[in-house]
Amino acid sequence: MGKIVQDIDAAVQALKAGQLVAFPTETVYGLGADATSDAAVSAIYAAKGRPATNPLIIHVASMQQAEALVHMPQVARKLAEAFWPGPLTIVAPYREGAGISAIARAGLDTLAVRVPAHPLAQELLTAFGGPVAAPSANVSGRLSPTEAEHVAESPLAEHVACILDGDECPVGLESTIIGFDEKGRATLLRPGGIAREEMERVLGAPLLRPPAASDAARPSAPGQLSSHYAPRARLRLNADAPREGEMYLAFGAEAPQGVPGLNLSPTGDLAEAAANLYAYLHILDATGVDGIAVAPIPEHGLGEAINDRLRRAAAPRPQDAHGKHGKQA
Ligand code: TXA
Ligand code: MG
Repeated sequence: MGKIVQDIDAAVQALKAGQLVAFPTETVYGLGADATSDAAVSAIYAAKGRPATNPLIIHVASMQQAEALVHMPQVARKLAEAFWPGPLTIVAPYREGAGISAIARAGLDTLAVRVPAHPLAQELLTAFGGPVAAPSANVSGRLSPTEAEHVAESPLAEHVACILDGDECPVGLESTIIGFDEKGRATLLRPGGIAREEMERVLGAPLLRPPAASDAARPSAPGQLSSHYAPRARLRLNADAPREGEMYLAFGAEAPQGVPGLNLSPTGDLAEAAANLYAYLHILDATGVDGIAVAPIPEHGLGEAINDRLRRAAAPRPQDAHGKHGKQA
C-alpha cells in the first residue's frame, strides 16, 4: 500500500474500488475518496483520526459539476468564475439528492466544493468522472503535505492505495474558504491560497468575518480547533532571532545571518513564503529540534493565511492539558 505512482489509471481504479488515493492539488496533497460512498468516505475519517463533525471539501473537475451539487448564490458564481479552477472553496446550500455521502457533509445542509487547478487533479477528476471528497492528506491536527514524500513518510501511507506524484504544490497553503450569510454576502471562513485583497477586488466589497461564536451545527471551517497544522516541535512566533536549542524560520532580507534554520523568502515575497511554509516546517521538524522560532510575517496578502496557519500550529495542544510533551503521530 501507499506507493508513489505516476499512473492516473491506477488511481482512478482505486477510487472506483472505494479505496483512498493521495493526489496533488495546487494547494496541498489531498486524501481522496469517492464522495458518493459512505464506506469510502468513512475510511478518510478513520485514516486521519478526524472528528466526524468536521465536513470534507468535495472536488470536481468543472463549474458545471459543482453547480449540480450546490445552489450557488450569485456572488459565489462571480467568485467561481474569477478563481476556478484554483485555490477557492465555496460553501453553499447542498442540493438534496445530489448523491454526496451524508458522512462527508457531517450532516450539514451546506456543502464545500472546489475545482482544483493542478493538471493531475484535473486529469484524475475528469477520468474518475464523479465527485471526490478530499481533506488534506495529513493526520488530523498535523502539518499538511506539499510533496508526495510527505504523505509517503506519514502514518497515512499505509491507508492509501497509492500516492499520485505531482511534485511540489505550487501554492503550498490550503484553499481560501468562502461561505455566505443569510443576505448572500461573502464571508471568509478560512484564509488561504487566494489573498483577501484579490477576492475583494472581484467582489467590489469587503469580505465579512465569520460569526465569532462557534455554533456546533455550523462549523466555520477548520479554525474551531485550537491546535492545527502543527509540527512536532514547539513554535514560537514573531521572533527576531532563535534562542538556544531553536531553529529559525526566517523571512525577508533583514533576517539575522549565521543562525541555524531556513528563510521562507529571502526577498520577502509572500507567495514564495506560502509555497515554502509547510515544506520548511517539515524539514526543520525532521531535524528533531525542540523548538522552531518564526520571524514576523506581514499580515497583508497571503500573509493573512500564513499567519493563520502559524498561529494554529503554535496554539496549545490537547495533550498539553495533561502536562505531556506531544509526540503522537
Ligand atoms: O486546499 C484545500 O482546501 C485542501 C485540498 C486537498 O483541496 N483541502 C483541505 O481540506 O484543506 P481540509 O479538510 O483539511 O479542510 C477543509 C475544511 C474543513 O476543516 C471544514 O471545517 C471546512 O473545510 N468545511 C467543509 N465543509 C464545510 C461546510 N459545509 N461548512 C463550513 N466549513 C466546511
Ligand atoms: Mg487539513
